[in-house]
Amino acid sequence: MMKTIVIANQKGGVGKTSTIVHLAFDFAERGLRVAVIDLDTQANASFTLQAYQMDCSASDLFTAGTAALKAALGALPAEPALHLVASDANLADIEGLGMAAASAAFRAHIAVLADAGFDVVLIDTAPSLGVGMAAALYAADAVLSPIELEAYSIQGIGRMVTAIANVRQANPSLRFLGMMPSKVDSRNPRHLRHLAELRELYPDDVLPTSIGLRSSIADALASCEPVWHNRKTAARKATKEVRAVAQYVIDQMEIAP
Ligand SMILES: Nc1ncnc2c1ncn2[C@@H]1O[C@H](COP(=O)(O)OP(=O)(O)OP(=O)(O)O)[C@@H](O)[C@H]1O
Ligand SMILES: [Mg+2]
Repeated sequence: MMKTIVIANQKGGVGKTSTIVHLAFDFAERGLRVAVIDLDTQANASFTLQAYQMDCSASDLFTAGTAALKAALGALPAEPALHLVASDANLADIEGLGMAAASAAFRAHIAVLADAGFDVVLIDTAPSLGVGMAAALYAADAVLSPIELEAYSIQGIGRMVTAIANVRQANPSLRFLGMMPSKVDSRNPRHLRHLAELRELYPDDVLPTSIGLRSSIADALASCEPVWHNRKTAARKATKEVRAVAQYVIDQMEIAP
């Protein structure tokens, strides 16, 4: 059974793309067939995963027919196990499609990926509560929200939680995997205070694992490689943290090849 997981938080710069890129690398290394869909016109995931780009763009997934995706899938080699549906400029127009049409089309394309034998679809979203994010949530099995331990981020997460609750009325099988603290500086008392506050506010919705504020992660995104390809000692902690998040998602979602 293919699992579709959305990474979403309408707050910008909280680590969504960093998380999705590392989940994708980790899952593919485990032998899973992974598709990443980049629904953000900033195209950050598309940059880091450019080597895996297939011949179909994210805006194609919002068209009525599934021919473009099917043709691209037909042309895929067996290796590698990781494939990217990259962001493109036409994504900006999906806001005008209307929720019902966009959502129906996107769901049909997710079904095509399931038929093609993918184990996991990971969807990166833009930092806004727009049509793209909503369509992704309507089609997904689960959503994970990276969050920064800063005041603005904590203040904004309530809106994300409400948006997820609203989508659940139409897609009851959507599961909130939780908030994943990201870019955490464990020596910063403000971060620790905000983490404690977050756990108190949302006792069931904060992941047990978090990702630290580590420049090796930013290096990895820029060099288009997972952080574990970085041989420096400083990258080891980041690797451990990222692997723990991947394991958490695998366990929670019961993902298996
Ligand atoms: N754990 C980390 N430690 C240090 N820097 C990080 C970490 N995670 C991400 N970054 C850096 O912070 C910035 C934002 O990260 P990222 O792009 O993953 O966030 P995002 O939520 O996808 O942002 P956007 O909302 O703009 O899509 C990037 O420059 C990235 O390199
Ligand atoms: Mg991003």
